[in-house]
Amino acid sequence: MAETRLGVDDLIAPLFVREGIERPEPIVSLPGVMQHSRASLRQEVAELRSLGISAVILFGVPAHKDPEGSQAWATDGIVQVALRDLRDDVGDDLVLMADLCLDEYTSHGHCGVLDDRGQPDNDATIELYGQVAVAQAEAGASIVAPSGMMDGQVLAIREALDDEGFDEVAVMAYAAKYASALYGPFRDAVDVTIEGGGDRKGYQQDYRNAREALEEIRFDLAEGADLVMVKPALAYLDIISRARAEVDVPLAAYHVSGEYAMIKAAAERGWIDGDAVALEHLTAIKRAGADLILTYLARDVAEAL
Ligand code: PBG
Repeated sequence: MAETRLGVDDLIAPLFVREGIERPEPIVSLPGVMQHSRASLRQEVAELRSLGISAVILFGVPAHKDPEGSQAWATDGIVQVALRDLRDDVGDDLVLMADLCLDEYTSHGHCGVLDDRGQPDNDATIELYGQVAVAQAEAGASIVAPSGMMDGQVLAIREALDDEGFDEVAVMAYAAKYASALYGPFRDAVDVTIEGGGDRKGYQQDYRNAREALEEIRFDLAEGADLVMVKPALAYLDIISRARAEVDVPLAAYHVSGEYAMIKAAAERGWIDGDAVALEHLTAIKRAGADLILTYLARDVAEAL
């Protein structure tokens, strides 16, 4: 009689790949998650594939950062290299997604380039996003996922992809992305600190707002997004539910690093049953209306299911 069933093919595994390391490195605040080397990433993806996971999304940790974040679109940038490795390994047997942002690559840690007042420059940034999208598509991404929350980013990316003949590459927009304290462990995972103690409240959403999320989703769909995302997930089930009622495209939700870390930390102390809470949380996200869930629990849950 269960209305909602969580399946392995609902899950998208976020994976980190770091340039210049020989062995995977653990991320302290994300127990069980690694910064992968090129080789260990290939191994991990093969194992996820055999567990029935059908999609992964890659995040890069470059060896060198600069103010523009140029490693994000370099042909030999770490994500592009990793995408080529994986495409060689899996052919069309796995959906390869790439997170599309500059924050992992900029020396100041913002999601875009800065203007002469040190503020993110929206329009200069979305031009660069177009270049990143093309580099990721050339390297084998079938879905690019812009997460920078710059205005007009989906349109800029869609046009850049189409101009280069990548009209079949889809865009999964981080459409309703909140300025959340739950991204803390992720910033450890990608070695990002925002310069001068800054934050992302100028481009990510205020968690006091719900209607604004729907407006962001409408803009992104009008600009050509194929899938839309709500992020984080658990504290935003109302947003997921409202988005589901309003749109008919696939809806993704990102169960983010802080959500994962809270489960792992409490389970480690024996305060909760981590596996049970994981299933409960992910099933609730699906029940609220998400078709797809990006989650660091993908491997654990695939093993359990
Ligand atoms: C930006 C990006 C972030 C996350 C995914 N893409 C960080 C941010 O916006 O600060 C966070 C994911 C997580 O916490 O798991 N490239």
